[in-house]
Amino acid sequence: MKSPLAESDIVHDVLGIGFGPSNLALAIAVEEHNTGSPREERLSACFLERQPRFGWHRGMLIDDATMQVSFLKDLVTLRNPTSDFSFLCFLREQDRLIDFLNQKTLFPLRAEFHQYFEWAADRMGHLVEYGSEVTAVEPVRDEDGRVAFFDVFSRDPGEPGRTIRRRARNISVAMGLEPHVPPGLELSERVWHNSRLIPGVSELTAAGRSVRRAVVLGAGQSAAEAVDYLHRSFPEAEVCAVFAKYGYTPADDSPFANRIFDPDAVDVYFGSPAEVKQSLIDYHRSTNYSVVDMELIEALYATAYREKVAGHERLRFLNVSRIRDVRDRADGPLDIAVEFLPTGEHHVLEADLLVLATGYRPRDLTRLLGESAKLCLRDDGDALRVGRDHRVETAPEVTAGVYLQGGTEHTHGLTSTLLSTTAVRAEEIHRSLLKGRFADAV
Ligand code: FDA
Repeated sequence: MKSPLAESDIVHDVLGIGFGPSNLALAIAVEEHNTGSPREERLSACFLERQPRFGWHRGMLIDDATMQVSFLKDLVTLRNPTSDFSFLCFLREQDRLIDFLNQKTLFPLRAEFHQYFEWAADRMGHLVEYGSEVTAVEPVRDEDGRVAFFDVFSRDPGEPGRTIRRRARNISVAMGLEPHVPPGLELSERVWHNSRLIPGVSELTAAGRSVRRAVVLGAGQSAAEAVDYLHRSFPEAEVCAVFAKYGYTPADDSPFANRIFDPDAVDVYFGSPAEVKQSLIDYHRSTNYSVVDMELIEALYATAYREKVAGHERLRFLNVSRIRDVRDRADGPLDIAVEFLPTGEHHVLEADLLVLATGYRPRDLTRLLGESAKLCLRDDGDALRVGRDHRVETAPEVTAGVYLQGGTEHTHGLTSTLLSTTAVRAEEIHRSLLKGRFADAV
């Protein structure tokens, strides 16, 4: 590898790793602060994103999929309802405000929210470097061993093989989750995680490849969406949903349960002992995990019933079942061995495509942070100790900050990986950054 190139002598107050909605919201919070502050009170921020341009779960931008969070929980409104980075301001700029309102919904299309994110990201373009995957974060020690800065290394988008080094007082890690592939299964040309559903289907269609049978593993929202999407995309194909449950479970989006996503709920959760935290997650798991919007459940059921009436069933639900083995024969279809759990009976489905809608997992920070990870304190269960301000607790010699957005369900609860408190969390981190930088200012 070529020796790293130093960006410049700039020391950023905050360097964001990943530029999804979490760090985008932080960028806007910093920008709005800077706009209203004298030069000496401004924060220098830079964000590094590995994708070549902004993209929010592009592989699942299904045309009719809607958001599962109110548009008022956009990048800014809960922090600053007067911000011109709100979804409503975006709509006004697109000349769609009144058309949107006439729909009488709080839940825009996912594709429309993506447009909104892109619009906001474009306006923050001067703070972001795309095509810049962060590969390492190293502590910078002075002669007394104190760590006041981190050096962040990222791929140079302009020159393959070269890394760029940037220095920062704080890092904000918001790298999102990574697709989970269950043990024993492997991704291939015909076995995809649902995160590449849309490009995968486009490629198949463009190549004129026929799909006679597609199998989807999983029973969550993404699984149900994939089943529906494949059924629509390949009108001749049989689509089989395989899952261990008896039937899909509806997402609990009732008003009292929804309060678990309130900013106040984060306070309550944060201050609770471990067993109360666990019970809150268990009680309210069905707001987010392995659940499906009721409308989609009903639509899938109606489709399956319609096909039954017509005597041509191409939507099948293999419930109480697991995939035990997948043989990927180069010259033939995939052989997918499915076990019906009540009897242990196996049968083999010949399929052209298997979509693993098997969820996402937090990314392993230890590898990326390397030496810096050793400076982060952990609790008895080996989880990172994180303060209410989302700052990781670090060894005493460290004054540089590591902020986490995501991967903090153990400390901040269910909203950690979701959008509900994105704007508020950005404000909390922003305040904490200001406090660290200008101790008396906040
Ligand atoms: P996000 O994953 O969006 O962004 C992380 C970014 O970091 C990515 O752009 C990635 O490329 C980048 N990155 C990773 N590693 C890097 C590295 N080493 N260097 C540089 N960049 C790196 N939640 C909700 O509340 N309501 C909803 O409606 C939905 N809908 C939804 C749909 C689908 C299909 C999925 C998969 C998820 C949701 N979610 C959701 C949950 C989702 O996690 C949430 O919406 C946000 O994506 C979280 O934003 P982040 O910025 O934290 O992560």
